[in-house]
Amino acid sequence: MTDELTVRARYFELMNMNGAAHVYRQARASGMLAALLEGPMTASELARQCEIRERPTRLMLAALDAMGVVAGVDESFSLTALARMLIGGGYRALGDEYWAHLPTLLESDKPLQRMDDVGESESHYRSQAAALAWMLAPAAEAAATALGFGATTAEKSILDLGAGSAVWSLTMARRDESSTVTAVDWPAVLAVATSTAERFGLADRLTTLPGNFHQVELPAAAFDLAILGNVTHLESREGNLDVMKRARTSLRTGGRIVIFDVFPGQSKGDLNRTLYALGLALRTESGTVYAPEELEALLAEAGFAAAELVDLPVPPFAVGMMVAEASG
Ligand SMILES: C[S@@+](CC[C@H](N)C(=O)[O-])C[C@H]1O[C@@H](n2cnc3c(N)ncnc32)[C@H](O)[C@@H]1O
Repeated sequence: MTDELTVRARYFELMNMNGAAHVYRQARASGMLAALLEGPMTASELARQCEIRERPTRLMLAALDAMGVVAGVDESFSLTALARMLIGGGYRALGDEYWAHLPTLLESDKPLQRMDDVGESESHYRSQAAALAWMLAPAAEAAATALGFGATTAEKSILDLGAGSAVWSLTMARRDESSTVTAVDWPAVLAVATSTAERFGLADRLTTLPGNFHQVELPAAAFDLAILGNVTHLESREGNLDVMKRARTSLRTGGRIVIFDVFPGQSKGDLNRTLYALGLALRTESGTVYAPEELEALLAEAGFAAAELVDLPVPPFAVGMMVAEASG
């Protein structure tokens, strides 16, 4: 595209993003989404139930339909899977709680929350882990394929550190009947991993190790694959080095470590990645999107061979995986 066209394309994109966010917010505030949760309705039924005017309700529904929030068939509108995910999850306000803190962040450089704090992370992630599983399911499938699970991999014993819902490890284990997963996280969060395993029919292949991944006792040379999924951006350099060293000790020589995180250079993730970095500043004290080279250097120090960065070309398009082998 020429510069002239790019500028106009960006202009319309930005106007649309803002307009769509306003429409979604007003659909919530007016009770439209809550009403549709009860079942499909026509625009006039919805307007009556929410005590709003019919003509703008129709216009709002058309925009919500174009956004993928509702689906209109024969004049009747229902919520889509996207709307149900938004309404039922922790991001029903599109993260407004965080974004409203932006002026304060600029003034004080202090976050709203400390999701990177060991005292806070359990309560935050117990409610977010299931939403993360939903968001990352396609990326987990892409990663399992890229790692050769179910086809060529001989990695049977998987350690998932800061597992959350354990979506990465359990998606891999689902491809290979003889593989097992050991998940480490806080007790309340591991309940989410257990329910993922039940949903996948893998409950008998999941072992949970509750506690701090810097302290929990891990068996030595016991695992073929260690996963750090969206953990490195929460940790300091020292914290990352410590957890990588612990992963190295628990891996057999020749085993692999896989880091999933938001990396630059992914298929089309620049806006995702930069907003993610800003979001981290809003909800953590020291959360950072590391450059791949920084993580590679830490991996080398922890006893891993040269790392490879692999694109995961599925939503959210900003998450990639770094893979490195445990050297002898
Ligand atoms: C961003 S979430 C990622 C969860 C999952 N790996 C994923 O990618 O969906 C980070 C996880 O690490 C866990 N966590 C953070 N610090 C931890 C620590 N010191 N010990 C154990 N778990 C920790 C959190 O409870 C949370 O489940």
